[in-house]
Amino acid sequence: MICKHTRPQELHALLEIENACFGQKDSPLTKRAMGYHLKRGRVVGAYEEGKLRGYILVFPRKIPRVYSLAVHPNARGRGIAQILLQHALHVNARLRLEVRADNHGAIALYEKLGFTCKGLKKAFYPDGCDAKVYSTP
Ligand SMILES: CC(C)(COP(=O)(O)OP(=O)(O)OC[C@H]1O[C@@H](n2cnc3c(N)ncnc32)[C@H](O)[C@@H]1OP(=O)(O)O)[C@@H](O)C(=O)NCCC(=O)NCCS
Repeated sequence: MICKHTRPQELHALLEIENACFGQKDSPLTKRAMGYHLKRGRVVGAYEEGKLRGYILVFPRKIPRVYSLAVHPNARGRGIAQILLQHALHVNARLRLEVRADNHGAIALYEKLGFTCKGLKKAFYPDGCDAKVYSTP
């Protein structure tokens, strides 16, 4: 498995993962938004035998923000998200993110990698779900 920047030509493959991973309640990224981030080099993909299996999207900020992280349902449970996040932590001294309070799998992943919960944003998501704010030390 390797991690590398995803190219704009891979927009279709990226959207396939996006739509397989996020339902309407999660407001998946649109084609336009994904294309915008791709062109700016913000997306790193995880590849197995040349095939894109997952991605991480990090916004450049004072403390860079993990805006999205997703692994195709067929490729989960094999450490791909962990490798993507470790790659992002290697490139960025610190990271922060918001995660749905009901997303227990993702929360377990962030806590495993040393993120700690810094607070709660009430009704942050369109369906009223709270967001937990996590960051690295
Ligand atoms: C969350 C997600 C990215 C995890 O991807 P993954 O490649 O399956 O995760 P990994 O295999 O790297 O898991 C690493 C660790 O995270 C935790 N973890 C991941 N998924 C978990 C789950 N469903 N339940 C409990 N713990 C989980 C575990 O601690 C795991 O370590 P372990 O295997 O030693 O127990 C994936 O389920 C996904 O794409 N979900 C939909 C999109 C999403 O929720 N993204 C995150 C919020 S933006």
